[in-house]
Amino acid sequence: MKIKEILLTEGVEQKISIKGWVRTRRGSKHVSFIAINDGSTINNIQIVAEATDFNEELIKQITTGSCISVRGKLVASKGSGQAVEILASSIDMLGAADADEYPLQPKKHSLEFLRENAHLRFRTNTFSAVFRLRHALTFAVHKFFNDKGFFNLHTPIITGADAEGAGEMFQVTNLDLEALPKTEEGKIDFSADFFGSKTNLTVSGQLEAELGALALGQVYTFGPTFRAENSNTSRHLSEFWMIEPEIAFADLKQNIDLAEEFLKYCIQYCLDNNADDLKFLDTRMSEEESKLKKEERSEMGLIERLKIIIENDFERITYRKAIDVLINSTPNKKKKFQYPINGFGDDLQSEHERYLVEKKYKKPVIITDYPKEIKAFYMRINDDNETVGAMDILFPAIGEIVGGSQREERLDKLQERMIEMDIDQKELWWYLETRKFGTCTHSGFGLGFERLIMFVTGMKNIRDVIPFPRTPQNAEF
Ligand code: 4AD
Ligand code: MG
Repeated sequence: MKIKEILLTEGVEQKISIKGWVRTRRGSKHVSFIAINDGSTINNIQIVAEATDFNEELIKQITTGSCISVRGKLVASKGSGQAVEILASSIDMLGAADADEYPLQPKKHSLEFLRENAHLRFRTNTFSAVFRLRHALTFAVHKFFNDKGFFNLHTPIITGADAEGAGEMFQVTNLDLEALPKTEEGKIDFSADFFGSKTNLTVSGQLEAELGALALGQVYTFGPTFRAENSNTSRHLSEFWMIEPEIAFADLKQNIDLAEEFLKYCIQYCLDNNADDLKFLDTRMSEEESKLKKEERSEMGLIERLKIIIENDFERITYRKAIDVLINSTPNKKKKFQYPINGFGDDLQSEHERYLVEKKYKKPVIITDYPKEIKAFYMRINDDNETVGAMDILFPAIGEIVGGSQREERLDKLQERMIEMDIDQKELWWYLETRKFGTCTHSGFGLGFERLIMFVTGMKNIRDVIPFPRTPQNAEF
C-alpha cells in the first residue's frame, strides 16, 4: 500500500505491506522507530520494530536514505505526532545507503546544496512537495482546457522558425563542426545539414498553434521551449515549459478573461487537491522569511496569497496608464529605479513590474496595448498605429507570468510589420497563407509553467521547480 492510502484508511489492525525510503531511525536497545516515506504524500509513516523480532545487524543497516520493504500490522500509535503506525513483523533491506557517504542527512540542507545533488533532492520534503504540485498543475492545465473543448496540439520541438523574432535560439545540426560545408560565397551550406536547412530548438509553439486554431477552433500546446538568452536570473531557464492556448474568434478581451480564469482554476485545483503539500510549503516559506529583514518579508503566508488571487479580480490597465503611474511614482521621482521611466516607449523592467504589482495595486496586474516596437511581429496593430493588442500578466513575487496578444489577422498589415521588423516572409510562407485563406480574428497567450509553479509553491528560484534545470553554464544530470 501507499502511505497516502494507509493514512486515509480507518480500520486498524489490518495487515500492511509497504516499501519506501528511510528518513530517520531512532530508538533504544529494545525498540526502533523508523520513519519511512514512499513519495505518495509529504507524510511519513512510523515503523515500530521490537528488538526481539529482528537481527541487530539489519536494524543497524536501516539508515537515512536506505530503501526497505516492511510487512506488519497497522496499529493505533502510542506516541504523539501520528495517529497510526506499523508494528513490523518483517523487514527486508532492498537497498542500503552507506551512512558515511549518503549526502542527505536528517537536517536542513541549503537549496544550493540540494541543486548540486538534484539526483537525490526528490527525497526531501520540500522537493517532493514541489514535484507533486508540479504534477497537479500539469493535470489541472489539461483538465481546464479539455473541459472547455480545447484540443491539445503537439507542436514541433525542432523548427526553422524564430517565433518570437528575438534570435535567442539553440541551433540544431549534425554537421561536423570541425569541417563545415561551404557554399560558393563561403557561407555555411545548410542544404547539407540534416534537415536541408538551418534549424533550431523552438522558442514557442505559437505559430504552429495558430495554424491548428484556424481549423480546430481552440487548441493549446504544452511543451518544452528553449531560449539561449544569457539571463542568469532566478526567473529564467534555458529550457522551460510553456502552455500556449490559441483561440479562433477571440479578441484581446476574451483572451485576457480566459487567462485570468485559467490561472485561478490552476491555483484552486492545488488548494483542493494538494492541501498537505501546500501546508508544508506555507510553513517552510514563513520559516525562510523569518530569516529575512522585516521589509523583505511578504505580508502574507503562502496559502493566504493563493486565496487572494482566486478571490480578487486582476487589475487591468493599459501600457500608457502604467507609464503614467510609474512616471509619477515615488521611486521614479527619487531616482530609485535602476532604469528610470521617461515616457512612452520605455520597456518595463522587473523593478517596474514589481512596483505596480506589489506596491501600487497589491494584486495581479494585466497590462495591455504596448508600443509595437517592444513587442513581437505577430501582434495586432491598434488603430493608433503605435500600439499593439498585447497583454502581459504580472504576478506578485514573480513578475511576468503570462504574455499574449490578439494576432494580426490582416495579411497586408502583417506583411507591413514583417518588413518593418526585418522578418523573412519566405521562411514563414505557411504562416502568411493562413491570412490569405480564411483568416479570422484570433488570440492566444503563453504561460510560463515554472513561473506558475514558483508562485504556487513559494519557491524563490526557478531552478527549484523543474527537476533538472538548464541554465547558462549548467546542463548536469
Ligand atoms: O512572453 P513570451 O516570450 O511569449 C511567447 O513566447 C508567446 N509566443 C506566447 C503566446 O502568445 N503564445 O513567453 C511567455 C511566458 C512568459 O510570460 C514567461 O512566463 C515565460 O513564458 N518565459 C520564461 N520562463 C522561464 N524562463 C524563461 N527564459 C522564460 N521566457 C519566457
Ligand atoms: Mg513576454
